Amino acid sequence: MSDNYSTGDGFKVRDLAMAEKGRMKIDWAESRMPVMMNLRKEHTAKQSLKGMRITGCLHVTKETAVLIEALADAGAEISWSGCNPLSTQDEVAAALAAAGTSIYAWHGMDTEAFYWCIDKTLEQKPTLTLDDGADLIFSVHNKHPELMDTIIGGTEETTTGVHRLRAMADDGALKYPVIAVNDAETKWDFDNVFGTGQSSLDGILRATSVLLAGKNFVVAGYGHCGSGCALRADGMGANVIATEVKPTAALKAVLNGHTVMKMDDAARVGDVFITATGMKDVILGRHFEVMKDGAIVCNTGHYDCEINIEELEAMAVSKRTIRENCEEYTMSDGRRIYILAQGRLVNLAAAEGHPSEVMDMSFANQFLSMVRLAAEGRDLDASVHDIPEEQDQHIAGIKLATMDHGLDELTTEQIEYLDDYSAGT
Ligand code: ADE
Repeated sequence: MSDNYSTGDGFKVRDLAMAEKGRMKIDWAESRMPVMMNLRKEHTAKQSLKGMRITGCLHVTKETAVLIEALADAGAEISWSGCNPLSTQDEVAAALAAAGTSIYAWHGMDTEAFYWCIDKTLEQKPTLTLDDGADLIFSVHNKHPELMDTIIGGTEETTTGVHRLRAMADDGALKYPVIAVNDAETKWDFDNVFGTGQSSLDGILRATSVLLAGKNFVVAGYGHCGSGCALRADGMGANVIATEVKPTAALKAVLNGHTVMKMDDAARVGDVFITATGMKDVILGRHFEVMKDGAIVCNTGHYDCEINIEELEAMAVSKRTIRENCEEYTMSDGRRIYILAQGRLVNLAAAEGHPSEVMDMSFANQFLSMVRLAAEGRDLDASVHDIPEEQDQHIAGIKLATMDHGLDELTTEQIEYLDDYSAGT
């Protein structure tokens, strides 16, 4: 790979000269991540991760930098890569490299470079892996099985990754324990809903600057992420249309005041489309065929296969980048369709990802899961493990306290009343 990047012992980033700018972004994130800063102080004193080598593959953002530096302060050696070719914030990667973190990540890499970076981080011979989308775990299992001798366990950040790892465990193919960080209540109920909702609309607006009020805003998939996007688009005055395959999810969308229809019908009326399903081919050729002139299409699911861009490419007569992160495809009848961030995660590629305040809780779960694996991972079986309920309540409790909200406590009499089956009407 011959190119103009900053490389050195243990790193390859876009340009080390961006380090100062990156450090200011990290400082900004730290000031909005009080739970992480609390955990960092406690576990720096305890050195809970001493002797651990953590290989991570997760979006390189200012919030991730806070996680990385907390893990390092708690005693771990770190080697990191980004988990999406377009999500790395180059200035943050530079700041991390300048401060001595082993990191292989830059914005705009191709697939070959993506896996090269993962391979470089694995040279560290990890004891723990930390994933967002499971590409790192898959690489260990499929390409570097010899590394499993020293790996105690791993964590997974996303819905899609956890889903695949559970399938792998069901087949007996998963060879070490993984903690499903995604499934913690303090992760999915906040990050997936409020984080995705705000950051995806942020990405759409940065890439297009269109008015959302009065637009038909089509959300494909009304799970946690899709419902978060719907909530925020609704709040900005858009008419939300949800498409679903699951009856209960569709019903929730209807009772939240949205219209539900098949994508074949939504394709004709939508102004802005966002996919949040974790499924491939949600929007494809026959949908592009009937879309209105000016339709904007983007994705906020983990992988870039939700929109079939190859079919659009084959149908279009021309293509140009009209704005940053916004590609205009012109069809033979003159209609123009706009694809944002090449169909990759619009919130991370066109904006800065979820705000620090929600990543605070998601990464507190990552951090505590690493501490748990270091202490007891050798006793866990090779399956997908849940976050303990106490951890969720602990994290939510610290978060509330740092936000200055008071919490009531049950009295002894009230606790007794809860279990008292002699008390009735
Ligand atoms: N996923 C979504 N938003 C993120 C962020 N800000 N940092 C890391 N991972 C993310």
